[in-house]
Amino acid sequence: YVSPLFDQHNRFHDYLRISLTERCNLRCTYCMPEEGVQLTPSEKLLSREEIERVARLFVSKGVRKIRLTGGEPTVRKDLLDIVESLAQLKSQGLESLAMTTNGIALRRTAEPLALAGLDTLNVSLDTLDPHKYVLMTRRKGLERVLENLERASSMGMQTVKINCVIIRGVNDTEVTDFVALTKTWPISVRFIEYMPFGGNRWEKRKLVPYKELLNRIEERFGKVEKILDDPNDTSKGFRVPGYAGTIGFISSMTNHFCGTCNRLRITADGNLKVCLFGDNEISLRDAMRSGMTDGQLHQLISDSVKRKKKQHAGMDARVMEEGGEYLLITPPHCHG
Ligand code: GTP
Ligand code: 5AD
Ligand code: SF4
Repeated sequence: YVSPLFDQHNRFHDYLRISLTERCNLRCTYCMPEEGVQLTPSEKLLSREEIERVARLFVSKGVRKIRLTGGEPTVRKDLLDIVESLAQLKSQGLESLAMTTNGIALRRTAEPLALAGLDTLNVSLDTLDPHKYVLMTRRKGLERVLENLERASSMGMQTVKINCVIIRGVNDTEVTDFVALTKTWPISVRFIEYMPFGGNRWEKRKLVPYKELLNRIEERFGKVEKILDDPNDTSKGFRVPGYAGTIGFISSMTNHFCGTCNRLRITADGNLKVCLFGDNEISLRDAMRSGMTDGQLHQLISDSVKRKKKQHAGMDARVMEEGGEYLLITPPHCHG
């Protein structure tokens, strides 16, 4: 590979998350204000060609997995073209092409996307109760999402996962219902600890530590068995013995996984972010538009990765004590 992406803490980065848009067709309360977020003018977003170029550069530096994110990636009109062209990188070392979506708009697109080479789908779904869905996302759509989930998972997509952000007093009592889904459905449900993002009014009491969830699940289903996680997994995986699907916990708050982080991010307007909680490092958009060669871009990217910090800015005792004001994410971030 051309200068593989090691940082100074000996972490190798082979997972790139590319945000395709800042827009979203939902307004989850933990993510966006009612009125949405301030959008970057479209000429400042990466074009499909620029996304392809960036992706190719990273694959030649050893990236094996690309995940498309947002905002909500399905609102981008040229999504299918982007997936088709990124899938070409599978002959150059790319092993997995994934997307994280809220599942609202998959009805017509899931099948073409799968055929074009998208192999993994993570669908965000925080409640199975239609009223609560409206409360949490400020939009209707639960039935559509459930239908689309079934469709996607019966369509030969390699993996389909549900991402469920748990907030105390809002949806924490539904955890066992989500676990029950895995009895006959070979799906993976991952419970995510609620994180403070600039402006989402995070409070410590709303965070349910994953250990508490695990206890509640075991009270109801008996002892769950540990399954083997991939070394860079964000999630700790388990299975209720005999169940078809699995459950997992993404414990970003109470047990962070910065030590095994292998991720880099590109924002929709072309900034490289080396950490979810970090600053926008450098503008690859400006670098490309100023005429830099691939060689110069390689150097820029490698230098930026070398500056990556050992842990994310918020992961110290202050966060848990003072309510997370140290974590400032530049919105729009959510599916990013
Ligand atoms: P897989 O590739 O299927 O493992 O998915 P993923 O967990 O990498 O990505 P996904 O988009 O499904 O994100 C799920 C959750 O993982 C997010 O809500 C975050 O809580 C967490 N997450 C993803 N990337 C990072 C990261 O770089 N740092 C931290 N702290 N959390 C992350
Ligand atoms: N805390 C935890 N997870 C969040 N997500 C969005 N905002 C938050 C937050 N404040 C989740 C989305 C999506 C994933 C990529 O990030 O629900 O599933
Ligand atoms: Fe949209 Fe995802 Fe944010 Fe919800 S969490 S508003 S689905 S980007």
